[in-house]
Amino acid sequence: MKFGYNLEKGNPMADKIQVKVPDIGDFDAVEVIDVLVSEGDSVEAEDGLITLETDKAAMDVPAPEAGKVVSLKVSAGDKVAEGTVIAELEVAGDGGSDEGASADDRDSGDAGESEASATDAPSEEASGDREKAAPAGERKEVEITVPDIGDFDEVELIDVLVSEGDEVEEEQGIVTLETDKAAMDVPAPHAGTIKSVKVKAGDKVSEGSVVAVMEALVGGGESEAAADSASSESVAPATTGKGEVVATETRDTAGTDKRADRGSLQAIDESGFAKAHATPSVRRFARELGADLVKIHGSGYKGRITHEDVKKWVKSQLRGAGGGAGLPQVPEIDHSKFGDVERVPLGRIKKISGPRLQASWVNAPHVTQHDDADITKMDAVRKALKSDAESMGIKMTPLAFIMKACVHALREFPDFNSSLDPDGEHLIMKKYFHLGFAADTPNGLVVPVIRDVDEKNVFDVARELGELAEKARNGKLQQKHMQGACFTVSSLGGIGGTAFTPIVNAPEVAILGVSKAEMKPVWNGQDFEPRLTLPLSLSYDHRVIDGAAAARFTRYLADVLADCRNLVM
Ligand code: COA
Repeated sequence: MKFGYNLEKGNPMADKIQVKVPDIGDFDAVEVIDVLVSEGDSVEAEDGLITLETDKAAMDVPAPEAGKVVSLKVSAGDKVAEGTVIAELEVAGDGGSDEGASADDRDSGDAGESEASATDAPSEEASGDREKAAPAGERKEVEITVPDIGDFDEVELIDVLVSEGDEVEEEQGIVTLETDKAAMDVPAPHAGTIKSVKVKAGDKVSEGSVVAVMEALVGGGESEAAADSASSESVAPATTGKGEVVATETRDTAGTDKRADRGSLQAIDESGFAKAHATPSVRRFARELGADLVKIHGSGYKGRITHEDVKKWVKSQLRGAGGGAGLPQVPEIDHSKFGDVERVPLGRIKKISGPRLQASWVNAPHVTQHDDADITKMDAVRKALKSDAESMGIKMTPLAFIMKACVHALREFPDFNSSLDPDGEHLIMKKYFHLGFAADTPNGLVVPVIRDVDEKNVFDVARELGELAEKARNGKLQQKHMQGACFTVSSLGGIGGTAFTPIVNAPEVAILGVSKAEMKPVWNGQDFEPRLTLPLSLSYDHRVIDGAAAARFTRYLADVLADCRNLVM
């Protein structure tokens, strides 16, 4: 199948040209599976305008020259044939006598030889494969080479996307190259099997470097050549003119890597992306938006992913980032079918804290580390201080000691006193020790914050605990009382229970749950001794904290609590 563009001037005096479907072989009602541009869009020469699909191949019809899309004459789902006008383009006028020459150049309604050579699928050389001679239609070995990559020499190969023995589709990416201007995949020129990979990540390559050898069924004779050419076109290069290389990432002029701008979209599964069923222009479009084709359901012919599929997926991701959509929904049930019900409004605090708890739960991978602290000595000290504290109007509970002990552990393990930078690549290390504590109130859970716990003694901490808890219960907490925490303690010790899994108060990275201390028999090597044992449950954000660090943290904390001298000073 010969493939090219076909155009004529709509009005000899105007700079408007019609783009027509070129010679597409024996097909006379080919489906438009994707419209790649909108009216008003500016396009470069060779940008794909629409994608056509026969049962043999998909192909883009490219813009014959740079310009603006004035009108689109087809929609996805339409059937077209050779000569069908698909769009009108407004192109830069040549003016005066030049126009005639220009028109001649451009007007190639019969898709003649010269035009075909400019826009047909690339030659074997250009398409980056060198085929060893073989009879028509036989399997043969094909060297996959780096095509013309412009003025770049010694380009870094940043990724090898296939392994020996892999079955690859036509146009599937084989390796990814990166210059300071763009990253690009070198696609397979045919479907087949990778026999050997000749390069590795980090290698430098240039035009003509062999990156892999594949075994492919490559047609030879006239008719097969035509069919083969059609499938080569689907490899995409039609959109690039030389087109063997599909740009996958671009950098702006300042050299900023746009991958960092992908916001909340997750990293692309490169090997899956390379195998996805999509045309090159859809691949490029997905790359620009940071959309992972692996995750997108293709609604096109034979499950091919279309531009529209990519757009819909990105929209759904954006909605998900804003309001939790994109998560599987809990089914709505009419509970009244099963008995009497009453619908009451959620309290104000629950309405605020619910989404925050959910945001932490879905964003931070949570793990909870459990341990026990022997607080026998600590509790004896606490009881000894209790009457002094009471005389000052302070209620001395274990929580004040626990918060002081947490400061010691946070100093020892500074990662626990950090937040993950939104760029996902840095930690914000905090040099202060403001600790939140969860307070149960009639209206719901709140987290007042005691500032600079490191600078306060246990009496000060206990006093502030009591005052803030009182304010919390009376609904008198102000915003300033609940800001700036770097770590939170949630104590259910006054209520009971043996362990629980608190939710990290994100963007903090850890929270300590404390349950009720119980007297337990502890083996001292010779006897069981009664020891007052405090259960600790440390939940942490596993993106920041490893399990071993969490175990060390709780062990260290338990040791500090067991030897409580440092807490009272
Ligand atoms: N083990 C054994 N006893 C404990 C204990 C522990 N870990 N922690 C507290 N106690 C005791 C106290 O000593 C006190 O006893 P006492 O009156 O005989 O002296 C009693 O339990 C009640 O203490 P409490 O009033 O709860 O004080 P506190 O300083 O321990 O806690 C708050 C203050 C505000 C944190 C607490 O009242 C609260 O609201 N806890 C709930 C937090 C929560 O909801 N967490 C879940 C979040 S998901």
